[in-house]
Amino acid sequence: MDAGIANKKRKLEDTNGNDGQAEGGSHFVKEGPNQENHTSLMFGIKEEIGSLARTLNLFEQSKVNLSHIESRPSRRSNDAYEFLVTCDKGPEDLSDVIGQLKGVSSYVHLLSRTHSTNSVPWFPRRIKDLDKFANQILSYGAELDSDHPGFTDPVYRARRKEFADIAFNYKYGQTIPRVKYTEAEIKTWGTIFDKLTELYPTHACREFNHIFPLLIENCGYRKDNIPQLEDISNFMKDCTGFSLRPVAGLLSSRDFLAGLAFRVFHSTQYIRHGSKPMYTPEPDVCHELLGHVPLFADPVFAQFSQEIGLASLGAPDSYIEKLATCYWFTVEFGLCRQDGEEKAYGAGLLSSFGELQYCLTDQPEKKPFEPAVTAETKYPITKFQPTYFVSESFEDAKEKMRSYAATIPRPFSVRYDPYTQSVVVLDKKEQLEEMIHAMQGDLNILKDALQKVS
Ligand SMILES: [Fe+2]
Repeated sequence: MDAGIANKKRKLEDTNGNDGQAEGGSHFVKEGPNQENHTSLMFGIKEEIGSLARTLNLFEQSKVNLSHIESRPSRRSNDAYEFLVTCDKGPEDLSDVIGQLKGVSSYVHLLSRTHSTNSVPWFPRRIKDLDKFANQILSYGAELDSDHPGFTDPVYRARRKEFADIAFNYKYGQTIPRVKYTEAEIKTWGTIFDKLTELYPTHACREFNHIFPLLIENCGYRKDNIPQLEDISNFMKDCTGFSLRPVAGLLSSRDFLAGLAFRVFHSTQYIRHGSKPMYTPEPDVCHELLGHVPLFADPVFAQFSQEIGLASLGAPDSYIEKLATCYWFTVEFGLCRQDGEEKAYGAGLLSSFGELQYCLTDQPEKKPFEPAVTAETKYPITKFQPTYFVSESFEDAKEKMRSYAATIPRPFSVRYDPYTQSVVVLDKKEQLEEMIHAMQGDLNILKDALQKVS
């Protein structure tokens, strides 16, 4: 066994320690010191004559070379085998083969994305590029952990597969398919909706309480109706240009944050298991629609979220972890001060009846939001947070994120062009001159408007 294979085996064992259920997700993106633009995948297939040959044929048809392959009996099923393969392409070139693999495998995990240590990691430049990694998720649909409330419920698992298929087939620009939620699913939603809306007037921030009634009015937010992603996405586009994109499971931190750079929020569409309406081990439609959506319709919060996304593009892996931590303590669990009182704006708080009450008590520690400090703070994912970071305003948080982003070691700056929904990499003097020219036009409009106003 050569050293390279030993390293790969160790990587596989490490990753299997938690069997694909990532904490932040980003530790699935691992670097290999001697490989450039290689990707490792793990997948499971049934032990049948010819099944491996058929699977490997998918790689051949897609002109993807395999530089390494190893196998072992599956830990999940007695009549299945797991395979680890390393391909000679980056994940952005593997979306077709991964999509086909998902059709014949019980699961597919993207284990690593390797790139030269001197190069900048690949990142999407156009909004359409999000299609390339949308299906590279760390968990898939019906595949649930043994402690998931729906683990032993075949009906729930089949339903999860339906939702996952919608997400897998979705491409940029398409209408998000409408879902007919069952009575049981609507009942679960209604239970949560009732409890949380009791708390919002006193516990949620001003901006949230401004937008929530608009969602009731425009998007069908009601106790007896689970709103449709397509309607919400259209509403958000009208307000801030943010849009939703259905996702089947957890994306890596890098991929998830990259979506924010384009004002795209990857949203689940399934709902938690009805046996425990006030608990979910993973994001579901209640968390996304009640927790996240309202503030993505707020212009300053939208800008703040996009700043985190833009900062992540091409950033080294260590900084992706820091940015994901900032995201955790703000977009998920952030508090802000308004009229001398603390209020919640994080989606993890606004979608949790228990933690929304707890976070405003004196029990947890409260610290001012400072990205450099926040980014280094450890946090638990399965219990209430012991520490919350408090922002003075979204504007203040946005400026701090912008300053922090400037400290990330990247040989370029990025700017989002809303006309083309693309990211412009600013690394040439001529580009900066063009940008200054364009800004002079905007300044003239401002000068003219100021004269008219005064
Ligand atoms: Fe979330």
